[in-house]
Amino acid sequence: MRAVWPVLLAACAPETAPSATAPTSITDNAGYLAACEEALGPWPVMSCEDAVEVPITVTDADGTRVVRSLADLEGGIRCDRASIGGCAPGTRIGATVNERGATFAFGCRNYDDDLAFDQINVIATLPGDGATCFFDTHAGEQRFLGTTVLPRPGSAEDTDRFGDPFWRPFEELQGSPCLQCHDNDAILRNPWVEQTGVLPTGDPDGPYWLVAHEELMEGDALWQPPRMLTDPDAAPCLACHRLGERRSCTLALEAVGRVPRGLTTRWYQTTWPEDHWMPTFDLGEVYASEDDWDADYGAAADAIERCCVDDPPPGCFADP
Ligand code: HEC
Ligand code: HEC
Repeated sequence: MRAVWPVLLAACAPETAPSATAPTSITDNAGYLAACEEALGPWPVMSCEDAVEVPITVTDADGTRVVRSLADLEGGIRCDRASIGGCAPGTRIGATVNERGATFAFGCRNYDDDLAFDQINVIATLPGDGATCFFDTHAGEQRFLGTTVLPRPGSAEDTDRFGDPFWRPFEELQGSPCLQCHDNDAILRNPWVEQTGVLPTGDPDGPYWLVAHEELMEGDALWQPPRMLTDPDAAPCLACHRLGERRSCTLALEAVGRVPRGLTTRWYQTTWPEDHWMPTFDLGEVYASEDDWDADYGAAADAIERCCVDDPPPGCFADP
């Protein structure tokens, strides 16, 4: 199934629709949130305290140990599962489902060794319909304490403990690269984030469209719809979900154990089975050896390696 973009949905509006349903111009977070709530239902209560800490482990000759501090990862030590931003001990991931069934997935991210979170981000998405909104904060040391409740964007409560705006203003979201990475569907998985078990299964092959997409595209070409991988040799990897031409492609390189793997090569494990994580996140339980896996997915992995490059050959991707 192809992603459905708002342009297509606009074509479905009856000609006699009252002007109240005509798109209003969205210029700030209050306007963006209003459009998001119309598409997805109400902003729920979310707190970093209720989110689940991502466990960070290191496995070596002495066995597997849990790591809680960046100091324990010095000297090139690899964690068993890395996020987009490194091993990131202390980061928490949460997900709340509102009354309309929309998932609000959020990350309270930790980049250093103190206990305060340094950045918070939210993806709100409605399974089946595909409407999606993104919210993000600036990164800054000590900005968010453990009990932080995520305020309604654009409301009177939208301030951090220093009195600065909590959420990044809409005009900065217009220049943000969320769709450069969250390209094939709203929520991105990897073995690091899966460990928390909080992200609902979702609807990876269903529609995916962005609320206020036209307004977001006014800001930057970063919000152009991505092309999707269609190379026939990659078909075994496209049976359950799409892969996009951007970050989901380089994540796919991680998933099939090919290097270099975008941003995470430095952290990822490099031995079977930890260096492979598709078609399931627990491959070691499904395949006895890498050769067995290769028999099923080796040719698809070759196609991904050929296509997921900066300047892909013709035939890899189809326009949205
Ligand atoms: C460079 C690639 C990249 C960019 C840019 C990016 N993300 Fe992500 N994001 C990821 C990856 C990969 C994950 C999976 C977990 C991880 O590695 O942190 C993720 C996870 C998340 C999560 C946790 C839920 C999930 O999808 O796993 C949220 C919320 C999120 N991102 C929000 C945002 C927002 C909002 C923006 C834009 C302001 C953004 N991201 C931009 C790569 C990116
Ligand atoms: C049997 C079904 C199935 C097959 C086959 C499969 N995957 Fe997945 N894959 C999943 C599920 C389920 C997820 C997490 C779902 C989600 O994102 O909502 C996922 C997530 C991913 C992600 C993270 C991006 C994202 O949307 O979360 C990548 C990258 C990926 N798969 C690559 C591959 C590659 C490469 C192959 C072929 C080796 C493959 N998949 C085959 C089920 C499958």
